[in-house]
Amino acid sequence: MFKTRITELLGIEYPILAGPMAYMSGPELISAVSNAGGLGIMASLGYQTTDELREAIKKTKQLTDKPFAVNITLLPSARPVKYEDYFLAAVEEGANIIETSGRSPEPYMKLLKDAGATVMHRATRTKDIQTAERVGVDAVTILGMEAAGHPGQEEVGSMVRIPVACDAVKVPVIAGGGIGDARGFVAALAMGAEGVLMGTRFMASKDCLIHANVKDWLMTLGEMDTILIQKSIKNASRVVRTEHSEKILEMENRGASLEELMPMISGQRGRNVYATGDVGSGAAISVGQVVGMIHDIPTVKEIIDGIINEAKGIMQRLEKTGLAG
Ligand SMILES: Cc1cc2nc3c(=O)[nH]c(=O)nc-3n(C[C@H](O)[C@H](O)[C@H](O)COP(=O)(O)O)c2cc1C
Repeated sequence: MFKTRITELLGIEYPILAGPMAYMSGPELISAVSNAGGLGIMASLGYQTTDELREAIKKTKQLTDKPFAVNITLLPSARPVKYEDYFLAAVEEGANIIETSGRSPEPYMKLLKDAGATVMHRATRTKDIQTAERVGVDAVTILGMEAAGHPGQEEVGSMVRIPVACDAVKVPVIAGGGIGDARGFVAALAMGAEGVLMGTRFMASKDCLIHANVKDWLMTLGEMDTILIQKSIKNASRVVRTEHSEKILEMENRGASLEELMPMISGQRGRNVYATGDVGSGAAISVGQVVGMIHDIPTVKEIIDGIINEAKGIMQRLEKTGLAG
């Protein structure tokens, strides 16, 4: 049940992917997702050098013999990054599923296809997934504005983005943004998606190696406790609503420059919070609106098994009403 072109393409049991999360999506978390039948995606730019990325891929291969992917986000970075080196490091270490995001993967498609990699591209705009399809990716992920991380400038929700995306491309579509349980999973498949990608739900899992205080804090948050910052610098980012993130928004509304914002939005601040658990220390912590549905911290396996089992129950319920089957 729930076999799609995505399970087939990626060689996984369930069409459930864990979106890359900087400083979290390392060997432990992504191998847990892959071992549970989904697909873990490594957040490569959390690694400062390609040697660190190579080490992380090697370690992941020791922890799982199942498929996993490596994300390379093609966005301007505060440090000099030669993306080509990251792609090369990933494929040379045998990571043969690559996820790109941020910009069109076109400049790297030849390198990736020559290496025999399967390429997925994650974006928020229909035109960007169409471009990705045109340059030869094998699958695309569309993100709704509910998503943690970068949900796009345009604020279009998953209920609209998913069906629009499915109509716009022929390659299989994975849906992300606001999905946290079997209801979202079944709904995404009903809208034409052939897989789902979740970030926040996996952040709030036992296998995510961040401080327990952060996870406890997530469970206190409601669906309205996130805000979009960084729209003024064309890099909208959904984070937890805190005094710190409200201050960033205030600075943006006053017309603050990127230079002024940089110290406030630096990823290092978040990294400190994940390590120390000091959630009040002032950092923009990525989280999706789906956090309002999260009331427990299960293992990744419990999350995935739970979704699959409950999804079967939903299908049976729909069958009884005559809506499915
Ligand atoms: C804590 C956290 C960190 C994230 N870091 C990244 C990242 O480094 N790169 C990236 O492309 N997406 C990042 N994301 C976004 C996820 O990969 C995914 O697109 C998103 O979480 C999906 O929406 P959801 O949170 O509603 O499930 C992050 C998400 C979270 C929750």
